[in-house]
Amino acid sequence: MGIQGKIRAEILGRDLIELKELPSGEQEVHFVGCAEFARQVSDLKLKYGLSPQDWVFTNDLNHNSLLLKEFILKCRGEWKVVYEAQELCHCRNVPTQAVEQAILCGARTSEQVSQWTSASTACGTCRSHVEEILRARISLTQLAQCQIVKQS
Ligand code: FES
Repeated sequence: MGIQGKIRAEILGRDLIELKELPSGEQEVHFVGCAEFARQVSDLKLKYGLSPQDWVFTNDLNHNSLLLKEFILKCRGEWKVVYEAQELCHCRNVPTQAVEQAILCGARTSEQVSQWTSASTACGTCRSHVEEILRARISLTQLAQCQIVKQS
C-alpha cells in the first residue's frame, strides 16, 4: 500500500514523527523529540529497516511508545480515528486533539482526562467518547492495570 503525502504523529511541542513520500517514490522519516524517543526510532530502524510499515510497536504506555504505535499503524493504513469531530466536549469547548494529547502525555482514566482538559466536567455526555479514545489507544487489559495501580 502506498503512502499518500505525509503521515504524522505528534505530541504538540514535544515529539513529532512523520513520513514523507518524495517525488522519487522514496520514503523519508523525520522526527524531533527527546533523547529516548530518538533512541527508540533508531532501534526500530536498526531492527526492522527503514520502512516504518515494517516496524513493530510495543504495548508500553510511555509517551514515546504510544506515539510510535500511532505512527506505525498510520503508515500501515491501520490507524482508526474513533471520534472525528474537532470538538469533543461541547459544554467546555474541549477539542478532540486536547483529549488525544492528554492521553499521549499520561492520562489513563476518563477522570484524569477530565482533570487535565475539563472535558466531561459538565453534562457528561461526552465521557463515552473520551473512554472510546482511551480504549483505542490503550488496551482494556492495560487500562484495568492502570486502575489497579491507581487504587493501590
Ligand atoms: S459535552 Fe462534555 S460535559 Fe457536556
